[in-house]
Amino acid sequence: MVKIPRYIAGSSAKENWEFDAIVVGSGIAGVIATMRLSREMRVALITKERLVDSNSFYAQGGLAASLGEGDSLELWKSDTIKAGDGLCRESAVKMIEEQTPLIIEELNQMGVPFDLDNEGHFILGREAFHSVRRIIHAGGDQTGKMISQTMVDQLKTGSQATIFEEAFVVDILQDDNGEVAGVSAIIEDNDVMFSAPNVIIATGGSGQLYFYTSNPRVATGDGMAMALRAGATLVDMEFVQFHPTVCFAIQGQSFLVTEAIRGEGAFLLNDKQERFMPRYHEKAELAPRDIVSRACFNEMKLSGSPWVYLDTTKFERGFFQKRFPTVYSQCLKAGFDPTQQPIPVSPGAHYMMGGIETDLSCRTSLKGLYACGEAGSNGMHGANRLASNSIPEALVTGSLGAKSVLEDSRKAGPPERPFKPQYDREPYTRSELRLENWENIGLVREEKKMERHLSKLRQGTLIVPESASLGSLELANMYTVTSIITMSSLERKESRGSHMRTDYQAKDAIWGSLRVHTKAKLDGKHLEIEVGTNKKDGYSWNS
Ligand code: FUM
Repeated sequence: MVKIPRYIAGSSAKENWEFDAIVVGSGIAGVIATMRLSREMRVALITKERLVDSNSFYAQGGLAASLGEGDSLELWKSDTIKAGDGLCRESAVKMIEEQTPLIIEELNQMGVPFDLDNEGHFILGREAFHSVRRIIHAGGDQTGKMISQTMVDQLKTGSQATIFEEAFVVDILQDDNGEVAGVSAIIEDNDVMFSAPNVIIATGGSGQLYFYTSNPRVATGDGMAMALRAGATLVDMEFVQFHPTVCFAIQGQSFLVTEAIRGEGAFLLNDKQERFMPRYHEKAELAPRDIVSRACFNEMKLSGSPWVYLDTTKFERGFFQKRFPTVYSQCLKAGFDPTQQPIPVSPGAHYMMGGIETDLSCRTSLKGLYACGEAGSNGMHGANRLASNSIPEALVTGSLGAKSVLEDSRKAGPPERPFKPQYDREPYTRSELRLENWENIGLVREEKKMERHLSKLRQGTLIVPESASLGSLELANMYTVTSIITMSSLERKESRGSHMRTDYQAKDAIWGSLRVHTKAKLDGKHLEIEVGTNKKDGYSWNS
């Protein structure tokens, strides 16, 4: 059991700002939800840094959609479910994939400059484990940037939403009935309380928990941690996806090397310049992401090298620069030309398949709380997400989250004021925590190491220092999410998808029907984190 505070900071707010709905997070899920809500209610979008500082903005690969010749919804669904390794919620897969074409049409109308051929058809890219070319993209490898920027521009110019940037949401607040009634936040060093009967969490993932990650600085799992503190259930938190090819060649800087490059025929080489993926999987470089990541990790371990290599030197002249301008310019900045020499790459934490448990309409277990995009988990991705399925999922769930808020038309009482937590010491600094997480709950896991990690985490019951800076509040959230991932990973005694245990190396059919849930039980002013397994149907599984 791990103890955490109910609130990570008290509030001395003098004012209480009122809205009908609050959206926390400005990735594409949060932005689309805000755009929808702003047509009908007073909505505030609150984001920790600038509007464009989100994981969505950095997405390179693109957006999967079954639009090509020889493709079908059935085939896309089947690829998604195979990648999810037995744990995908089929009804969620079906719903998201069916609604994707409508969302693409909307993006088109908004003016997202998708890459088209001479006849005006989408140019379809290939990515790992997709049976066919299925990935639409914009600006080559700038898809996330193009979509985010277009949507943010639209939000700013075409909506009535109130936008708060550089604003840190600390906690979700409840009324006397324990239902959602607002959030507490810190804006320009001032405590602020927001009253609202509806809160949508769209804060994205938690890649920053790990020393090696493709995620930007903001991805610290805040939304998942605050939802747990408010009493919502989380699920599938052992399933952290590691992207196989992130470039860490310059210390302190890293960049994603999109797997669309492997889709175009690039090979992975080890330290001896040998191609190794065919030894690990029949689909070689296009095997599911978890398999490619572990293969790279293994080759690095065998050779003692900090990376393997992605060989892009055989591409036709000029192709790399045109199709992958972001990666090309980042390689040049790092001091090498990817058309002349292979790119040094290694795995990094990339995506959280689990999150705040939701039904198919983004409702969570807490009345008035909704979760969309990476912060939420409707079971679509199972144990391992298929490449380029996150943008469709974020856009469809963002849109559905707003629809649910409008349908529910909730009212709430005044929010309680958060009380000040007790303080205690921190067992790890931020960078120690990130390193320990990489070692203990990374690509390969083992009981003894995870137990040791957890007992260290337990040493500080509360982890917010006396003068709570934003960094320490983020760290408090990172501790909470670390504890959840560690406890969930200990609970799942098998290897499946992205969750690999050296002490339980096989996939176990019994675990194929079970999901690990996390809740926090109130004990005075603290909460105790508990994990347990349920049948797959937290909601109506397979319905
Ligand atoms: O490699 C990539 O471009 C990543 C795509 C994704 O995470 O879906």
